[in-house]
Amino acid sequence: MDAARIGFGEDAHRLAEGRPLRLGGVAIPEAPRGAVAHSDGDALLHAVTDALLAAWALGDIGAHFPDTDPAHAGADSAVLLRRALGVALDRAAGRRPRQVSAVVTLDRPKLGAHRNAIAASLASLLELPLDRVGITFKTSEGLAPDHVQARAVVLWG
Ligand code: C5P
Ligand code: MG
Repeated sequence: MDAARIGFGEDAHRLAEGRPLRLGGVAIPEAPRGAVAHSDGDALLHAVTDALLAAWALGDIGAHFPDTDPAHAGADSAVLLRRALGVALDRAAGRRPRQVSAVVTLDRPKLGAHRNAIAASLASLLELPLDRVGITFKTSEGLAPDHVQARAVVLWG
């Protein structure tokens, strides 16, 4: 049997007024700006989706769900994540995601009040207990005020 696997993923979206912000499948209603994207622009779900695929060298979200395909316009990123998880599970010979750790970088608003909801959403999507979902938040210290960025690591065992 192969050793444990790890996957890393990253995503960023430009922020614009008049758009909703979603992170980890959770709406952030107080956000003054939301992600500009072909899909729903959920950078955290996109980072986790890439991490799921990367653990098995299965390419990335754009290879599986091209953003040039009108079928993916406004796509619910949770659906794409679940489809990528299925593809990865098919390759994983009985292994499954055991832990996820993710960082969201966003200057405004502060996200701490949403941490539990985001963790619960990711736990549900990945079928993990809550104590195996670590979510941290950072500002860019003003270096990238017009972007939301997410990075995620998923451990498979
Ligand atoms: O980026 P900085 O180190 O200044 O962030 C300090 C703390 O602010 C973080 O550790 C986190 O607890 C919180 N934070 C947050 N939401 C953000 C950015 C940071 O809750 N969008
Ligand atoms: Mg994205």
